[in-house]
Amino acid sequence: MAEATIDYWASEQLVLCHDDQLGLRAAIAVNDTTLGPGLGGVRCVRYPSDSAAITEAQRLAAAMTLKNAFAGLPYGGAKSVIEAPGPNVDRSALMRRFGQFVMRTGGAYIPGVDMGTSIHDLQLMADAGAEVSCNEEDPSPWTAVGVAAAVRAAIEQTDRREGIEGARVLIQGAGHVGAALAHDLAADGARIVVADIDPERAARVAAEVGGRTVAADEVLTTPCDVLSPCSVAKVITPERVPTLACRMLVGAANDTLSDGSCAELLAARGITYVPDFISNAGGVIHIHSLRARHDEERLRADVLRIGARTREVLETAGATGQTPLAVAVARVRRILADARDASAGARSSGAARRDSERSLTAA
Ligand SMILES: NC(=O)c1ccc[n+]([C@@H]2O[C@H](COP(=O)([O-])OP(=O)(O)OC[C@H]3O[C@@H](n4cnc5c(N)ncnc54)[C@H](O)[C@@H]3O)[C@@H](O)[C@H]2O)c1
Repeated sequence: MAEATIDYWASEQLVLCHDDQLGLRAAIAVNDTTLGPGLGGVRCVRYPSDSAAITEAQRLAAAMTLKNAFAGLPYGGAKSVIEAPGPNVDRSALMRRFGQFVMRTGGAYIPGVDMGTSIHDLQLMADAGAEVSCNEEDPSPWTAVGVAAAVRAAIEQTDRREGIEGARVLIQGAGHVGAALAHDLAADGARIVVADIDPERAARVAAEVGGRTVAADEVLTTPCDVLSPCSVAKVITPERVPTLACRMLVGAANDTLSDGSCAELLAARGITYVPDFISNAGGVIHIHSLRARHDEERLRADVLRIGARTREVLETAGATGQTPLAVAVARVRRILADARDASAGARSSGAARRDSERSLTAA
């Protein structure tokens, strides 16, 4: 990526960490802490260049601000990337060292598991003194519950109907989230179609829910009511939008759109798009429930609220002619602005109270 395309000021705080002895090169991007400490995973993959890694950290951190704020969670957005270490690197020492850098953010960043990192890596960071969000429980079932709620809301809102009986839902990726989603929606009468690059996995899940399979390369062109991307990122590109044979797009995969322009292209084609940061927030809501020690009933209610939020966004989009993405981003901006106003108000009323106490003491 060219230097000129990097927005160095995209984050509230950007920390570059390196330790040449240990082979550590990492970037921590804290995008926004208006609502609380920045919560977001640690990605450990190979990047083509340092600037690509740093840009990715900032972009993913901004997406976490949207996800956490829209889900009503008391966290800001942050993310970090570690350049995947070579074979001769002591990974444990590297993760502990990274934990020290996380600690230096003074609690502004709470890391979690992401692509290329494990619970064990997070525990090593915690050993070094960092506060981390990692747990033994797999969040996927809760992510699936949230995606299912968004799918139901999208169908009911788009088609002005109740329930999803008979709706054709094509799930791309029969992994942790996709398989649970297939079961959840099939139980409500949806007709499930499954695609996976592992055809056996697709066939197994399809058989379990009385559905059928399509080849992984036919996902975009297979007619269905809902296409649910639950595998890889950037499935929808401007070039692919004209080829889509779905009426709605609601899934678990992060970064479903290759860029923001796809949202307008989808709307122009009459395809209802639920932004991924709305539909796939079940995982972060699960993390919060563990930290806040909520019981399962409360957690389920919080995750199912994704359905109501989806409905509201689609309703506003329909009424204003904006895309659902634009509506959701504007809503987050408002949430952040209100929170800033509230804390500025609290600061100024605190200052006024101290002034009046001082003048009373002086009198
Ligand atoms: N697991 C969570 O709680 C969670 C939370 C938020 C977002 N997500 C996102 O949701 C997606 C699915 O997560 P998961 O935990 O189920 O992952 P997973 O690895 O368990 O499953 C992914 C599945 O997709 C298949 N796949 C890969 N490339 C494919 C392709 N081109 N076409 C069709 N199938 C393909 C894989 O074979 C696998 O079965 C990921 O993008 C993930 O980042 C997951």
